[in-house]
Amino acid sequence: MAISEYTKKIILVDDEKDIRDVLEITLADMGYHVFAAGNGKQALELFRTEMPQIVITDIKMPGMDGIEILRNIKNENPDTEVIMITGHGDTDLAIKSLKYEAIDFITKPISDDALEIALKRANEKIITRRQLRKYTESLEKLLREKSELQDHLSSLGIMIGSISHGIKGLLTRLDGGVYLVESAHTNKEYDDIGEGLDILKETVTRIKKMVLDILYYAKERDLKLEKVNVLQFAGDVAVVIEQKIDDQHIEFHRDFGQDNIECEMDAEFFHSALINILDNAIDACTEDRSKASHKIIFSIRQDNENVIFEIHDNGIGMDTKTKENIFNLFYSSKGSKGTGFGLFISNDIIKQHRGTINVNSVAEKGTYFNIKIPKQHIENK
Ligand SMILES: Nc1ncnc2c1ncn2[C@@H]1O[C@H](COP(=O)(O)OP(=O)(O)OP(=O)(O)O)[C@@H](O)[C@H]1O
Ligand SMILES: [Mg+2]
Repeated sequence: MAISEYTKKIILVDDEKDIRDVLEITLADMGYHVFAAGNGKQALELFRTEMPQIVITDIKMPGMDGIEILRNIKNENPDTEVIMITGHGDTDLAIKSLKYEAIDFITKPISDDALEIALKRANEKIITRRQLRKYTESLEKLLREKSELQDHLSSLGIMIGSISHGIKGLLTRLDGGVYLVESAHTNKEYDDIGEGLDILKETVTRIKKMVLDILYYAKERDLKLEKVNVLQFAGDVAVVIEQKIDDQHIEFHRDFGQDNIECEMDAEFFHSALINILDNAIDACTEDRSKASHKIIFSIRQDNENVIFEIHDNGIGMDTKTKENIFNLFYSSKGSKGTGFGLFISNDIIKQHRGTINVNSVAEKGTYFNIKIPKQHIENK
C-alpha cells in the first residue's frame, strides 16, 4: 500500500536501544520517517510536536509502560493508531491493549512480515476513517442543500399560489371590462365603451407591473451603476405619478429644491423602488374616505454623503400590524388589488444601494417614507 504524506511519520518507543535501531532501519526502508523515543515521557513529547498518525510502542518498559502511553495518546488524539510490541507470555497485556484500542500487537522477535501486516492494518484504518469523514462531510452538505432546496420549493409554492390568486383577480376584471365594452357596443351605447376601456387599460397596467415584479424577483441582477442627475431623475418619477393621479382628486407636490445633486445609482431599479412607494401613497389616498382633500408630497434633500427622498401622504395610514409587515413578500392589505411585491422589492433595491428606508405612519392620518442612499455607492458595508 502506498504510504501517504500523512502516514509517513512514525514514533517508535522502546527502552532497548538495539531493538530501536533495528526497527528504525526497517521502518525507514519501508518509507517511513521515524522518530525514536527511549521512554514514555520522550515519546509523548515527540507525539505532541510531530503529530504522527502511527505510534509503535513496546508494552513493557520501566517508568511509563506501553499501555499508559497508548491511553495517553488515544486520549489526546483518538485517530492515532498504536501498534504494541509484546514479549512472549504477555498475552494478558496484549489483550488489555486491544481493550484500549490499540490497532494490533506484534510479538518479539519482530519479523518484517508481522510488522508489515500490522502497519497495513493501521494504514487501512487511517484511510477508511479519512474517507468516512469525507463521505460524512459531503452527506452533510447534501442534506443542507436538500433543506435549502425544500425552502426554495416551498417559497416558490407560496409565490405561485399568490401570483395565481392575483392573476385570477385581474382576469375577472379583464372579463368585466370586456363585458362592458361588448354590451355597450351591442346596445350601441357608445358612451359606455369608455368605462369598459378604462377598466381594461388599468388592468393591463397592473398585469404589466405584476409581471415586471415577478421578473425582478426571479432574477438576481447586479446593479448597473451610473452617475445620475437627481433632479432630472426625480422629475421622471414625478411625471409617471402625475399621469397616474391625473383624474383622481389628489394634489401632488414636488419639493425638489434647487441643488444640483449627483448620485451614483441604478436609475432603472431605483425608479421602480420609488414608484412602488408613490403608488402606495396614491392607493392610500384613494382608499381614504375620511378627508375632504388629499395630498402627496415628494421631496428631495441631501446631506454630505447622502441623497434623501421623502414621500408624505395623508391617506389611510397604517395600523401597527400593517407597519410590522409592509416589507414582507406577499404582505398586502389590498385583497385582490395588491400582491405584496411592491415594498419588498423597494426595500431590496434600497438595500442593494446600501441605503435605508424608514416609515412613520399613523392610522387614518397618513404615512411618511424616508429613503436615504449614499451619493457615492459603497461597495461593501
Ligand atoms: N402609504 C401607505 N399608506 C398606507 N398603507 C401602506 C402605504 N404603503 C404601504 N402600505 C401598506 O403596505 C402593504 C404592502 O405594500 P406593498 O406595496 O408591498 O404591496 P401592495 O401595494 O399591497 O401590492 P403591490 O405593490 O404588489 O401591488 C400595503 O398592502 C399596505 O397595507
Ligand atoms: Mg404597492
